[in-house]
Amino acid sequence: MYKSFFGLKENPFNVNPDPRFLFLTQQIEEALTGLMYGIQTRKGFITLTGEVGTGKTTLINRLLDWLHHRRARTAFLFNSRMNSNQLFDFILAEFDIPCDSKSKSQQLMKLNHWLLERYRMGETVALIIDEAQNLTYPVLEEIRLLTNLETSTDKLLQIVLSGQPELEEKLRLPQLRQLRQRIMLRCRTTPLSHEQTKEYIVERLKIAGAAGEPIFSTQAVDTVHLYSLGIPRVINLLCEHSLVNAFAEQQRPIQSKIVEDVAREFQLDEVEPIAPNGGSRIDTDVYNSEAFIQNLGEALSRFRLSPSTTTRQRK
Ligand SMILES: Nc1ncnc2c1ncn2[C@@H]1O[C@H](COP(=O)(O)OP(=O)(O)O)[C@@H](O)[C@H]1O
Ligand SMILES: [Mg+2]
Repeated sequence: MYKSFFGLKENPFNVNPDPRFLFLTQQIEEALTGLMYGIQTRKGFITLTGEVGTGKTTLINRLLDWLHHRRARTAFLFNSRMNSNQLFDFILAEFDIPCDSKSKSQQLMKLNHWLLERYRMGETVALIIDEAQNLTYPVLEEIRLLTNLETSTDKLLQIVLSGQPELEEKLRLPQLRQLRQRIMLRCRTTPLSHEQTKEYIVERLKIAGAAGEPIFSTQAVDTVHLYSLGIPRVINLLCEHSLVNAFAEQQRPIQSKIVEDVAREFQLDEVEPIAPNGGSRIDTDVYNSEAFIQNLGEALSRFRLSPSTTTRQRK
């Protein structure tokens, strides 16, 4: 509905982790290169961690595109709430490995055999698990066993665990010491700086077809950064709703007040803004404060659940 008003071909701030929209900052590029390098050189076990909404799933989708392009075999598990039997069933099904037996040792043997074949053919095989902070200890223990599948020189299966910072905490527990020792590479996603937030918004608008006059005023962009603290998912939420509201008011470029109203609507204003004139520093204390995380969680769940916001968004 607002698209023609703003001269756009598609919705610029869709919440889907669409790799076409991937915005590469130096940090994100480092994480992506790390993942590619780790898999290519058969490092075996890699983690990707970052706060909710900082782009892990988007990055993984880009990684999967890259892997498919190179004809690698991949299993992508995004439902991490599973038991260890389900883990093996999922892996075999994802790799298309026929196995009649439900016995874990049989399944592991089949998998090992199949992996050796792929290895001889020079093929890469990667298992990627998203939302890995939800994995239980027994499942993480099975994953440790999977890291044992190797030749004398190389790991046969490349494993990426991606998750929120709780994953790192979990892996620090004494009972997971053995698994932790196998992590060969740690990659991270981080919130965007003030400057990066500006570029991110411009870039997404451009990919969605924007040309010519700016859609957001400089102050409006500053306000987006102020309330989102550079978290892409929150930037998208603020920008999407600002576009809808500005269209209703036929306002272009979008002024700061519109963004502030959206932030208030989602209760993102309940944490004191920390950079009054759009200063570029993220105050980590505020970012880590419980109040902020709670607000963010609430804002996001309201965003996902509220029928009025989703219908408004789709128009
Ligand atoms: N680097 C990025 N480039 C483009 N969009 C991004 C980027 N990082 C995050 N996003 C957007 O932010 C939202 C949340 O990203 P997502 O990958 O789901 O985060 P996470 O998996 O860390 O919770 C998605 O809509 C995604 O499109
Ligand atoms: Mg995700």
